[in-house]
Amino acid sequence: MNDTEALEGELLAAIDAAGNEAALEAIRIAELGKKGRISEMMKGLGKMSPEERKEAGPRLNGLRDRVQEAIAAKRDVLAEAAIAARLRAERLDVTLPVRQGAAARGRIHPISQVIDEITAIFADMGFSIAEGPDIETDYYNFTALNFPEGHPAREMHDTFFFAPDAAGERKVLRTHTSPVQIRTMEAQEPPIRIVIPGKTYRQDSDATHTPMFHQVEGLVVDKTSTIANMKWVLEEFCKAFFEVPQVKMRFRPSFFPFTEPSLEVDIQCDRSKPGEVRFGEGSDWMEILGCGMVHPNVLRAGGLDPDVYQGFAWGMGIDRIAMLKYGMADLRAFFDADIRWLEHYGFRPLDMPTLFGGLSQG
Ligand code: DAH
Repeated sequence: MNDTEALEGELLAAIDAAGNEAALEAIRIAELGKKGRISEMMKGLGKMSPEERKEAGPRLNGLRDRVQEAIAAKRDVLAEAAIAARLRAERLDVTLPVRQGAAARGRIHPISQVIDEITAIFADMGFSIAEGPDIETDYYNFTALNFPEGHPAREMHDTFFFAPDAAGERKVLRTHTSPVQIRTMEAQEPPIRIVIPGKTYRQDSDATHTPMFHQVEGLVVDKTSTIANMKWVLEEFCKAFFEVPQVKMRFRPSFFPFTEPSLEVDIQCDRSKPGEVRFGEGSDWMEILGCGMVHPNVLRAGGLDPDVYQGFAWGMGIDRIAMLKYGMADLRAFFDADIRWLEHYGFRPLDMPTLFGGLSQG
């Protein structure tokens, strides 16, 4: 093997081993550049005798051509490898799930959900929804509802009072939704069939009481409404709301200034498992609402003649029945706005409660 063949073998091996274009280019300059080794050898041809050149010329030209070709071929290989590496590095995983939009991530608060459920149930029985102001006059919150002046029942409510206005009148944050009974009777002729969901306020705060809470009031006024009608309405409501086929209810005598007679209602439940309440079974009782026949003085305050009209009413704590139905232990969490709590206990915005589709599905 002559020197040229040895050099060629060495160069082809080096070209083959070049790991990137820069290394390859370094070889090209070192061999074929202006001052490169092969170029220098070729310059030497001019100084040779014609015989020597005849032999060396084709040999060196051949060497140069093959080295050039090897470099060009290797450059193509490296360029392709570089593209492949870049494609690998810049790969986009299009199988990632699309990020959820606001409608899918948002949640309906359990209070709003329960109000929607209650509305769906009573709407199905032919009731309308009424609302009234959170800031009430003493008259609507107490006097028109037959609370006598100075009567201890007014204190029972732990009322938030506003400072007296210029006329000396002290407004209150309504302590119950019952004032809307009077506002409705003033505005509307019987027959009246309404439910009144809304915010109510009392100075009270612990695991089962918050200063702002929610009630739903019901009012029916007609010429012949009776306690029997009331019991049926409340029983139908409880079965639909707690989604059980049967429920036992117990009506106990009670006192409210705005009803006569007044009753409190307990419903049958099973509390034998700690931290769990099941409705429609068991031998325990749970108080869920107050009710009664509308007091004649209240009908009068609403502008109705108690010798012509009679009616029944009830009031219920929404937060409490929400806790019972959905197993939430601490009422204060309702108002913490903790996103993790809402994700767990909240409802999907597009699953509207209906009696035919199921109240609490989704
Ligand atoms: N307003 C009462 C309360 O807040 C609840 C209530 C009881 C409302 C009996 C009624 C009723 O309409 O008839 O404690």
